[in-house]
Amino acid sequence: MVELRLPRNSEIGKGKTYPAPAGAKNVRTFRVYRWTPDDDKNPVVDSYEVDLDTIGPMVLDAIIHIKNDVDPTLTFRRSCREGICGSCAMNIDGENTLACLKPIKDIKGDVRIYPLPHMPIVKDLVSNLDGAYAQLRSISPWLQSDSAPPPDAERKQSIEERAKLDGMWECILCFCCTTSCPSYWWNGDKYLGPAVLLAAYRWIADSRDEHTGNRLDDLEDTFKLYACRTIMNCTQTCPKGLNPAKAIGRIKELQIERKA
Ligand code: SF4
Ligand code: SF4
Ligand code: FES
Repeated sequence: MVELRLPRNSEIGKGKTYPAPAGAKNVRTFRVYRWTPDDDKNPVVDSYEVDLDTIGPMVLDAIIHIKNDVDPTLTFRRSCREGICGSCAMNIDGENTLACLKPIKDIKGDVRIYPLPHMPIVKDLVSNLDGAYAQLRSISPWLQSDSAPPPDAERKQSIEERAKLDGMWECILCFCCTTSCPSYWWNGDKYLGPAVLLAAYRWIADSRDEHTGNRLDDLEDTFKLYACRTIMNCTQTCPKGLNPAKAIGRIKELQIERKA
């Protein structure tokens, strides 16, 4: 097994400065976390002076410009560029969000960009989400049903039943919420965190799913569910405007209701 090397984030140093091109008039400095497991150096923060007149409006536009035109060693994830894939989640200006949805003009002063907090780092802005994905798999995020579907037809829902899934199906699994949650920072190996609990409730609330009891049994655990202390960072940070804390509260209510 490969030993996982972790950055010493308590000892972040000052990195290189990449000056703006000559003649640039609208310059903003992007301070970006850099770390690689390939050597034994501490993380540093590199400074890139970018001419905002030559790039698009979002933080992701600046990062892509830096990689393409200034420093090809900068490593980050992105795919859709429109808030759908969840891969550009990072900590920008002190808040977990999607780089492709974060306008540069909304940030005052230097733009500080770090990876999602309290996760192992693969390189630079790329967090290792293996643990979070394993937790997602553990809640069986798919329809579970023992009865046969209607012949030659799909399993139907009423408009009201379908509406119960609103606010949950939109989750893009960016894990901005989970990595903003203090309970997850402290107990991320045992607490499932808001993104996974939102996914769990999405299937608990689905009228077509027949394993609600098993799902609730699995979540009845001091840490998996009850490590949530209702701090609400998750809901505050979600870049899709979702409310994982409400879903967690609903799971807790269902646990009480079925014992009554
Ligand atoms: S609830 Fe929001 S922040 Fe959390 S994973 Fe889903 S989209 Fe991302
Ligand atoms: S409400 Fe629960 S899940 Fe959300 S940030 Fe607070 S402790 Fe974490
Ligand atoms: S690149 Fe897909 S959500 Fe940002």
